[in-house]
Amino acid sequence: MNQREPDTTLVAIRHFLNTYDWSRPDLQALIDEANAFKLSPYGETMRGKTIALLFLNNSLRTRTSFDVGARQLGGHAVVLTPSGGMWPLEFEDGAVMLGDAEEHAQEAAKVLSRYCDLIGIRAFPKFEDWEQDRKDEILNSFAKHSDVPVINMETITHPCQELAHVMALQDRLGDLDGKKYVLTWSYHPKPLNTAVANSALVVAAKFGMDVTLLCPSEDYVLDDRYMKIASADAEAHGQGITVTHDVAEAYTGADVVYAKSWGAIPYFGRWDEEKEVRDSFQHFMVDAPKMSLTNDAVVSHCLPMRRNVIMSDDVFDGPNCVAYPEAENRLHVQKAIMSELLRS
Ligand code: CP
Repeated sequence: MNQREPDTTLVAIRHFLNTYDWSRPDLQALIDEANAFKLSPYGETMRGKTIALLFLNNSLRTRTSFDVGARQLGGHAVVLTPSGGMWPLEFEDGAVMLGDAEEHAQEAAKVLSRYCDLIGIRAFPKFEDWEQDRKDEILNSFAKHSDVPVINMETITHPCQELAHVMALQDRLGDLDGKKYVLTWSYHPKPLNTAVANSALVVAAKFGMDVTLLCPSEDYVLDDRYMKIASADAEAHGQGITVTHDVAEAYTGADVVYAKSWGAIPYFGRWDEEKEVRDSFQHFMVDAPKMSLTNDAVVSHCLPMRRNVIMSDDVFDGPNCVAYPEAENRLHVQKAIMSELLRS
């Protein structure tokens, strides 16, 4: 059980909410520790410790890798899902709770802090109003009220995926500085979360890559917050973020191609209208002819992925694809994150 005395500590709690809150050396230290865990998977850093994993959305990789990771470090994970019997939660400060929610996140965070040593949160946008979703209210509410460190397991960013991605790229390419990194929008029949795209953009810039965002039109450019964070990091490395809608221009000379689909922010809440637009961009699928323009690029996707829609089978199953190592790395980087937060 957590030994931290709730409410009375004056020490700021270090959370893992976004990589842009962490320095590049600190993120590299997490990746270095993750590489050590890859070689030697078992440890004691969570001996007697518990992480609560609060999943408001589905998962295969995140749920499994956090649970297995906690066990490999001598700890324990408790998985909580609203559909699995948890009380529906309210997240807005000052809410008059006349809706479905029976409990406020404030109480949930405080009580979980008395049972557990870490809290992981997965809470996707509601996809109705981006101005509301971009507040990342659920994650921030837990971070504000929790007395133990909180880990973002994907909300409007996906920082654990970012570290797994960088670890996989470093394993193939070594030093990433100056490498041409293409984040390409790809088609999906549904409008998806921008989280992984936001994350890929900021972490690629943070690690000194020469970042190109390839998307079908201005409507698919990412939220200004992430464009600005990535641009600031790119400028610090003497570079900028290139935005293009020209497929050949983007792929030519690329060292990395990262594929993801996302819904167009200007259409948030008007998805029937967006679908008509999106359906005309099915040709953005990552395929062999596009990859032939690259510098023998490493290619990846965070998974889950629709085959032959997002990426063709021959590319995904080919030697340049690191999607499986990236998925495996989730286990290693999350063990490093949990260990580091428990040390803080
Ligand atoms: N990449 C990822 O987070 O996978 P899951 O949605 O399956 O957890």
